[in-house]
Amino acid sequence: MSQDKKIKLANKLCSLGNISVINHVIFEGLGYNPKNPVKDSEDYDTLLKKYKASLGEKEQNDLEFFFTEKEHRVLDKWLHYFSIYDRHFSKYRGKEVTIVEIGVFKGGSMEMWKDYFGPKAKVIGVDINPDCKRFNDNQVQIFIGSQDDRDFWRKFKQEVPHVDILIDDGGHTMNQQIVTFEEMFDHIADGGTYLCEDLHTSYWKSFGGGYKKKGSFIEYSKNFIDYINAWHSHNPELSVNKYTQSMYCLHYYDSVLVIEKEINQERPSALAIGSEL
Ligand SMILES: C[S@@+](CC[C@H](N)C(=O)[O-])C[C@H]1O[C@@H](n2cnc3c(N)ncnc32)[C@H](O)[C@@H]1O
Repeated sequence: MSQDKKIKLANKLCSLGNISVINHVIFEGLGYNPKNPVKDSEDYDTLLKKYKASLGEKEQNDLEFFFTEKEHRVLDKWLHYFSIYDRHFSKYRGKEVTIVEIGVFKGGSMEMWKDYFGPKAKVIGVDINPDCKRFNDNQVQIFIGSQDDRDFWRKFKQEVPHVDILIDDGGHTMNQQIVTFEEMFDHIADGGTYLCEDLHTSYWKSFGGGYKKKGSFIEYSKNFIDYINAWHSHNPELSVNKYTQSMYCLHYYDSVLVIEKEINQERPSALAIGSEL
């Protein structure tokens, strides 16, 4: 999309109110209902400036292009997630990969993943809402169940033995995110990626979160930093565990954690080589 077109779109969307509205206008495929706006506290000019600045000079990636330009079902995403997805998922494009997304909602993201990963990809959606079954097609398979139900995951893993990418965009409560991680991280294939989004709920009381609150997903995941460094621990309370050996790296973004998986990692070594002079 040209810069002019982007600015025109931004102006059109901003004329409807604010960034939240922009978000909603886009995901409603421009069929936004002005009777039901979502209001932010920031004023219109500030938000317009922010949105234009966020467009910058850069070209849209294919996910952003899909979101704003192509016909699709309702898709509910924070705008900055698209560059995170592209950064971590582009290496899987065009390949035979299995993507699991928890949170199907109105089916838009199922279409987006098909478009992005290509015809060889298998897209699996998990949702608690049985109505989501209607998004089944030859490339998409929907499972109905609750992500905080360990029994559901046990059966799911029997039916889906291989998963390359998991995106947790479900109910976003602490328990849901933690149970899903505990049940599914081990199931991700070597070289796979685990992405949990909307981590801002870790700061929201209504979702079971709170700043530094024990049991929030953010607090829970801070332990991962210790786990990946456990090789160097002199404290018996921190020793090498399965995550030390399978989490290659952690990427924290606003509201998103991405974990790249590599199995059978061994203790890292250091070497000093070279001449003295
Ligand atoms: C934010 S929407 C998903 C948006 C979708 N991924 C998209 O990009 O358009 C959240 C979805 O999670 C589902 N959900 C809520 N609680 C759940 C649970 N316990 N287990 C599975 N899905 C759940 C809701 O039914 C809803 O469809």
